[in-house]
Amino acid sequence: MTPQEIVDLRTQRYNGTVVFLHKVHSDLMILRVKPDFPKPEHLPGQYSTLGLGNWEPRLPGTGQENLKPEDEKKLTRRAYSLGCTILDNKANLLDLSHTDYLEFYVVLVRTTDDGKPAILTPRLFMLTPGDRIQIGEKITGHYTLEGIKPTDNIIFLSTGTGESPHNYMLWDLLRKNHEGKIVASCCVRYNKDLAFIRVHQELMRRFPNYRYIPLTTRDGTENQKRYIQDLLTSGEVEAQLGEPLNPVKTHVFLCGNPKMIGVPIKNMQTGERSYPTPMGVIEILEQRGFEIDNNKTKTKGNIHFEEYW
Ligand SMILES: Cc1cc2nc3c(=O)[nH]c(=O)nc-3n(C[C@H](O)[C@H](O)[C@H](O)COP(=O)(O)OP(=O)(O)OC[C@H]3O[C@@H](n4cnc5c(N)ncnc54)[C@H](O)[C@@H]3O)c2cc1C
Ligand SMILES: NC(=O)c1ccc[n+]([C@@H]2O[C@H](COP(=O)([O-])OP(=O)(O)OC[C@H]3O[C@@H](n4cnc5c(N)ncnc54)[C@H](OP(=O)(O)O)[C@@H]3O)[C@@H](O)[C@H]2O)c1
Repeated sequence: MTPQEIVDLRTQRYNGTVVFLHKVHSDLMILRVKPDFPKPEHLPGQYSTLGLGNWEPRLPGTGQENLKPEDEKKLTRRAYSLGCTILDNKANLLDLSHTDYLEFYVVLVRTTDDGKPAILTPRLFMLTPGDRIQIGEKITGHYTLEGIKPTDNIIFLSTGTGESPHNYMLWDLLRKNHEGKIVASCCVRYNKDLAFIRVHQELMRRFPNYRYIPLTTRDGTENQKRYIQDLLTSGEVEAQLGEPLNPVKTHVFLCGNPKMIGVPIKNMQTGERSYPTPMGVIEILEQRGFEIDNNKTKTKGNIHFEEYW
């Protein structure tokens, strides 16, 4: 493609500007995008999309996909949860009412599970402030705090960037002086992947009903490794909560790696339901009397989940 064709495609297809970009490390970033249109109404926990043209350069070292000539002019879009840094630079809860940007927390996927070069994130990681991007005009999703009572206990469990929607929901609960207890945990590979650890530490100092449990799986030895599932089976969530896990007044939110979540599989022929292996959190919670909240079947429950892939 010629440089002029690229300029024209960017003008036609992009509708937002990167106004802030913080690289937590080479593979993890917080990104704020100001749409050309008014910031859409939305609820904490929902997601939008980000997109870039396949003509954009890839981060060096992330391989190269074999694009057909007709795909070169196409845009690749992916879903991203809206995030929130929770505190402003004076350590007060952010006032988002006058902000014109949407925030995202994105990890670089170098290759897919089957070893192919990932498509969008190697391009997102080439962005710098001022660059143009495609942002979805609709914000959507059922992974929200809808139906939560002020006295309910809330457990947020995530892997990796799955903590992003939880941070936004947490901000919402804290600013509304949520009366129930809130426990959040995020499981990441390395300490450096805990981008919001200081924010959570400050929140624990400020809000007596809030506890945060960080987990890293690749800093120590293999037998020190603990997954989110272990927090439930060992009783640590209850210890932090200061009371038994009571399904009547507790909602659990699960976001990130589908293996951590462990959505039951339904056999289409027999209708039988089975749990995936290795054991995910849903199996543990169902054994304790929790039920999946299912928007498709309109079943109200207290297990809410968002799988990232
Ligand atoms: C509702 C929803 C919200 C999402 N929100 C976020 C978000 O806030 N932040 C974010 O980083 N990603 C998020 N994702 C994942 C995102 O949509 C993309 O799949 C991801 O950025 C990879 O895109 P890609 O084109 O680079 O990779 P692709 O070429 O599409 O490869 C996809 C593969 O990357 C891996 N993968 C995808 N997402 C992740 C992830 N977050 N962490 C670890 N491995 C992953 C999986 O192996 C998956 O099969 C969300 C997905 C959904 C469905
Ligand atoms: N984070 C990095 O520094 C880094 C560096 C290079 C590339 N990447 C790429 O970035 C993408 C995202 O990586 P990510 O680390 O954010 O997400 P991830 O692969 O989903 O890992 C997040 C956390 O989930 C844990 N986990 C894995 N399987 C689990 C299971 N069955 N049950 C419960 N927890 C489980 C992981 O532990 P384990 O340690 O056991 O996997 C890790 O602690 C991947 O494509 C990866 O290749 C990340």
